[in-house]
Amino acid sequence: MPNTDSLEALLHEELKDIYDAEKQLTKALPKLAKKATSPELKQAMVDHLRQTEQHIDRIEQVFEQLQLPARGKKCVGMQNLIKEGEEMISEAEEDATRDAVMIASAQKVEHYEIAAYGTARTWATVLGHDEVASLLEETLEEEKETDMKLTGIAESYVNQAAADEEDEEEMSGRGRQGQARAVRGAAPRRQQAADRGRKTTRSKSR
Ligand SMILES: [Fe+2]
Ligand SMILES: [Fe+2]
Repeated sequence: MPNTDSLEALLHEELKDIYDAEKQLTKALPKLAKKATSPELKQAMVDHLRQTEQHIDRIEQVFEQLQLPARGKKCVGMQNLIKEGEEMISEAEEDATRDAVMIASAQKVEHYEIAAYGTARTWATVLGHDEVASLLEETLEEEKETDMKLTGIAESYVNQAAADEEDEEEMSGRGRQGQARAVRGAAPRRQQAADRGRKTTRSKSR
């Protein structure tokens, strides 16, 4: 177990890392929103950009509470997550496939943030910085909500649409009999995905 001084230093380093990560995201999210095809996904990206700006404000409040300058340090983890996401998105040829890849990349980013905020919140709690811990907790909950919202969008239709695109490609190489089979198969699956989407929305509203 690190001593209190070194844990305090770790917390400061983690905050600098998160601060830079959030700033990188404010640049990446508008580009993603532009490339999203599904209106729901586009809106989710725009909404999360607004939230990310609030996350930056909150970390600045945290720095103030700890009497530290609001300064970031290049977050290489986020830099690479964004880079990998951008590469995968630019390689996607179909709209629905691009949306599916975008959701996957955005969820990896959210999980990174969830880990970072969870860690920083726990360290702040252990060090007795209760107000700092509750500010970090607020952002942590918003990152978790965004992650769940993205799962909901993926389940409702984006991944299904990407699978349909694959079916269409297969059909064009399979001739008429294959086409009929693929179309018969696609419709019930689309219905199942829609049902799952509705279930997700229902369970969240409880
Ligand atoms: Fe954030
Ligand atoms: Fe986020």
